[in-house]
Amino acid sequence: MVDLTQISKEAVFSMNELQQLNQDLSDKSPRAILKAALARHDNIAISFSGAEDVALIELAHKLTDNLQVFTLDTGRLHAETYDFIERVRKHYGITIEIMAPDTAELQYLVSRKGLFSFYEDGHSECCGVRKIGPLRRKLATVDAWITGQRKEQSPATRNDVPVVQRDDAFSTDERTLVKYNPLANWSSKDVWDYIRMSEAPYNTLHEKGYVSIGCQPCTRPILPGQHEREGRWWWEESTKKECGLHAGNVIASTDLS
Ligand code: ADX
Ligand code: SF4
Repeated sequence: MVDLTQISKEAVFSMNELQQLNQDLSDKSPRAILKAALARHDNIAISFSGAEDVALIELAHKLTDNLQVFTLDTGRLHAETYDFIERVRKHYGITIEIMAPDTAELQYLVSRKGLFSFYEDGHSECCGVRKIGPLRRKLATVDAWITGQRKEQSPATRNDVPVVQRDDAFSTDERTLVKYNPLANWSSKDVWDYIRMSEAPYNTLHEKGYVSIGCQPCTRPILPGQHEREGRWWWEESTKKECGLHAGNVIASTDLS
């Protein structure tokens, strides 16, 4: 059992310690996982996507006055999502850092390939410029991040998402970036029960059949019985439906197959 009070906040977690911490926290509530994460790291940020992971902010703002929240503004979000981000900012009285794509990279992409190249040659190039570049920039400034990933979201890639992990996609030889997924074991119903109970704001697109919400051109509502991931990048096969934010999942699921 890792005693969080005994670990210096500056100490770098070894892989063993991280695995042990994951084991200790794996059956704990999202609140307990968030509490442990906030106790462990001063410089930790929530990655907020403008979808259902407002639950993370609702939980965390009760635990700390020092909440760091960022969102990746790809420039292609729905109007409803921008409206929601603004409502969340005001509701909780927090600063939301809005990360934008690099101007030169974006102009180079859209001048060469237009605004909808993802329908022709896949989403990875556009996601690389609009999401991964800004995310990499943000993650270079923190010791750990918190995401709203859940196992149930994607049987093809998220079945094994742990509650704590070394972020292999964004760590370097010199620096371990820790990634917390406090909602990993929650179902969609758990999230929505919590949102309703706490009267947290939510994205009004959810009232129109949208479940998993990303960028406007790459997200659509789903029909009854469809899996939520079917509303994302629907023209691509399911194992490719990670945009690189959580690239470690694809590496892990490939390793297992
Ligand atoms: S994605 O990789 O397919 O786009 P998904 O929409 O399932 O991710 O969201 C999973 C988690 O990734 C969210 O809970 C959030 O922590 C993070 N995330 C996704 N999109 C964004 C975004 N635009 N800005 C910040 N975080 C995001
Ligand atoms: Fe581009 Fe679509 Fe990825 Fe958004 S989800 S960054 S529009 S490819």
